[in-house]
Parts: sequence; structure tokens; C-alpha cells
Amino acid sequence: RLVYVLNGPNLNLLGKRQPHIYGHETLTDVERDCRALAAELGLEIRFHQSNREYELIDWIHEARETAGGIVINPGAFTHTSVAILDALNAFDGTVIEVHISNVHKREEFRHHSFVSKRADGVMAGFGTQGYQLALRRVARLLDDSKA
Ligand code: DQA
Repeated sequence: RLVYVLNGPNLNLLGKRQPHIYGHETLTDVERDCRALAAELGLEIRFHQSNREYELIDWIHEARETAGGIVINPGAFTHTSVAILDALNAFDGTVIEVHISNVHKREEFRHHSFVSKRADGVMAGFGTQGYQLALRRVARLLDDSKA
């Protein structure tokens, strides 16, 4: 019951960056809350952030061997990265895409997501709570696949 929680570019600045859009919580706060919930749900998580596309791709490859699910906020790579989509297409487990903001309410260029072509579910506009809801969904699907 291993789940990767992956965060793309600029999310290291969460809490400092455009707080009117992304809120005041930091990525460390998000990680702490994810770890607490994971313990409750009986999940093990690997929580990572990178500003580099290849690092996100390498973690997705790593997850292929080991994990049942990936929760990913790809940041701006959402809208640009065929390479991240290809990596996710090589992963067999559940994929949930998370956006803190409601991307559909924002600029036109944020409306298209390559990652959504693969994601089993998408959270957008739920703030950092979206990560928690995504983890609950992965846990549920892992339970169902056992039953
Ligand atoms: C984001 C939305 C993206 O459009 C943006 O580039 C981000 C964060 C979000 O969490 O709302 O970096 O993924």
C-alpha cells in the first residue's frame, strides 16, 4: 500500500507564492497532513517535490515497481508535459491529479491538462485539502481491488 505524492515546479514556494491563489500553508504542512492521514488509512507514502521534469519522471518510473497509486500535482508541467503523461501511461496503478486552485476558473492556458488524459480522477480548487481527498480515493480503490 505504497503511494507516491509528487509535486512539480514552484510548489516548494507554497505558502509564500501568490497566497491569494494557493493559500498560506506550506508544502511542509501538506506533507505533515498527508503523513498523518496516510497512517490513519494504512498507507505508506513517499512525498517529493522537484522543479525538474526528469526527476518527476524518474519517481514515476520508481513507482511502477513499488506503488499502487500516484497523487500528483504537476504544477505548470500539467499544461506542457507529454513526457510526464507518457511516464504515467507506463504506470498501472491509480493516478489522481491534484491542483490546489481551480484551474478552470483561471487563464485559458491552464484549462488543458496532458496529465488528465491518464488521471483516474482530478481534484481542482479544493485547496491543499485536495491532497487529502486524493489519498482517501487511492486508499478506497486499493481496498476495492483487494475485495
Ligand atoms: C497548480 C495549477 C497550475 O496551473 C500552476 O502552474 C501551478 C499550481 C495548482 O496546484 O493549482 O503551479 O497545479
